[in-house]
Formats: sequence, C-alpha cells, structure tokens
Amino acid sequence: MSFDTSVDTRQLMNWMIDPSSKVVFGAVATIITEQGEQNVQPHTDEEWNRVRNNAVMVLEAGNLLMLEGRARPSSVQDVADWNAKARAMSAAARTAIEATDVKDPEALFAASGDIYQTCTDCHEKYIFTAPPDGRQ
Ligand code: HEC
Repeated sequence: MSFDTSVDTRQLMNWMIDPSSKVVFGAVATIITEQGEQNVQPHTDEEWNRVRNNAVMVLEAGNLLMLEGRARPSSVQDVADWNAKARAMSAAARTAIEATDVKDPEALFAASGDIYQTCTDCHEKYIFTAPPDGRQ
C-alpha cells in the first residue's frame, strides 16, 4: 500500500491541522467587553456540526502524521514516541467530538485545552529537528 504524502508535514500543519484546530479552540470562549462578559459557544445544530467536523479533521490528521514520510524522527524509538504524540492529539480530538455529540460547552472547552497541549508536547520535541531531507 502506498500513500500520497506529497503534502509535507509543514503543509499539513498550516493547511489542515492549524485551521481545523482553530475552529475547535475558538468555539467556546469568554470575551470581556465594555458591556461586560460575553460567552461565546455554539448554539445551532449547524454551529455544533461545524465544530465537530473540524475536530474530526484534527483526529484524522493524527493518523496522517503517522504515515511514512511525515514522521520527523530518525531513530526507531523516536518514531514510536512521535506516533504516541500524534495519537494523543487524535484522542483529545475524540473527546472534543464527544462534547459536540452532547452539546456540552464546558467539556468542549476542556477538550480544546487538551488538544492544544498535545500540539505543544510534539512541537517541544520535534519542531526544531531538521527533517530527514536536511531542509532547515
Ligand atoms: C506529532 C507531532 C505534532 C503534533 C501533534 C502537532 N504538530 Fe505542528 N508541527 C510539527 C512539526 C514537526 C512541525 C515543523 C514542520 C516543519 O517546519 O517542517 C510543526 C509545525 C507547526 C506549525 C508551523 C508551520 C510552519 O510553517 O512553520 C504550526 C502552525 C503547527 N505545527 C500547528 C499545530 C497545531 C495547531 C497542532 C495541534 C492541534 C499541532 N501543530 C500538532 C509536529 C506536530
């Protein structure tokens, strides 16, 4: 089985993972205005579905990151670690999807924080690693 990985890891970040996760991150928020606190959250089915659809993209992106050619590490041990970090992102996205199933803004907010943490966990270890082709 061969996969088309012509969209590289960086492009996947910029064109899929970043935009889709932003929809999830921004779905529930408290905004302080001169008029006081304003709570942002999805209301209509359409709004909840939009968040769910984007959380699905984050979950699936975790799978895509595990395809050969996308993982950044060079050692076998690090590949396992990379995959674990990709899976953690998918798992947090799964929790976000479940929050949209029951339309629970607090659970969605918590899941967003967990997703964000998985981005950071992977970036801390791999973002400064030169990719295998030597591109800086
Ligand atoms: C399993 C590892 C991993 C996970 C999880 C991950 N990233 Fe990344 N991310 C990377 C790597 C590696 C790069 C550097 C890619 C490069 O520059 O070639 C990167 C780069 C980026 C960039 C910068 C791209 C650029 O043009 O410099 C953004 C934005 C980004 N990630 C967003 C996210 C967000 C948002 C999440 C979580 C929802 C996330 N990433 C989760 C590995 C990961």
